[in-house]
Amino acid sequence: MRFDIVTLFPAIFDGYLSQGLLEKAIQRELVDVQRHNLRDWAPDTPHRPVDDKPFGGGPGMLIQVEPTVRCVEDVQAMETSSPPGSTRRIVLTPQGKRFDQPMAEEFATSQRLMLLCGRYEGFDQRVMDILQPEEVSVGDFVLNGGEVAAMVIIDAVVRLLPGVLGDEQSNIDDSFSRGNRLLEFPQYTRPREFRGHKVPDVLLGGNHAAIAKWRAEQSHQRTLQRRSDLLGDQTDNNPSK
Ligand code: ADE
Repeated sequence: MRFDIVTLFPAIFDGYLSQGLLEKAIQRELVDVQRHNLRDWAPDTPHRPVDDKPFGGGPGMLIQVEPTVRCVEDVQAMETSSPPGSTRRIVLTPQGKRFDQPMAEEFATSQRLMLLCGRYEGFDQRVMDILQPEEVSVGDFVLNGGEVAAMVIIDAVVRLLPGVLGDEQSNIDDSFSRGNRLLEFPQYTRPREFRGHKVPDVLLGGNHAAIAKWRAEQSHQRTLQRRSDLLGDQTDNNPSK
């Protein structure tokens, strides 16, 4: 799968792309992540501006339509094996549809994602009118730009791609995956006791049915306490009953 990131700060991604799972997925050619500096599409003047004041007044600056549209068109044309229709264009913005696991699963089925990272007060509206991207938000808070949000999306999508996780099972059990709308149960590793805090006996007994029942109860209890919104109308669907 290919990701094209359009940003004014490509170096923000340096550490993220060169560590851990992402680094391995790139080395193994399971993913290709290309960064494109929007400033390269700015007018050839000394300051290479890509932003300007909003018409009608108001605080901050907006990213201009012309460099953005030209950049997206050029980036689209850089990789011809994927036809334009197979690229999903995504603008990261707090005005967007809320990102969640089903959206990550859907994105993971596409060949190519283009992620447009806003800065300042965002993009001129005509970027959306002309390019018709999907507008996506990673939560109800305002970030300084779309870069961290783009990393969130790449991170959630890449781990769903076949072969990326060592153990193919490990994302099937994740909270929120494939219709799982329960939070994960608590997990423990050695030592069996630390400062008087003991691992629950049931996990040490080797009784797999009892362990599964305990875990299901814990998941349900946690979800009820922390995220009862996830249970919706199904509060009587306690899997441990
Ligand atoms: N850019 C700024 N805030 C954002 C958010 N919450 N989600 C996505 N992009 C953003």
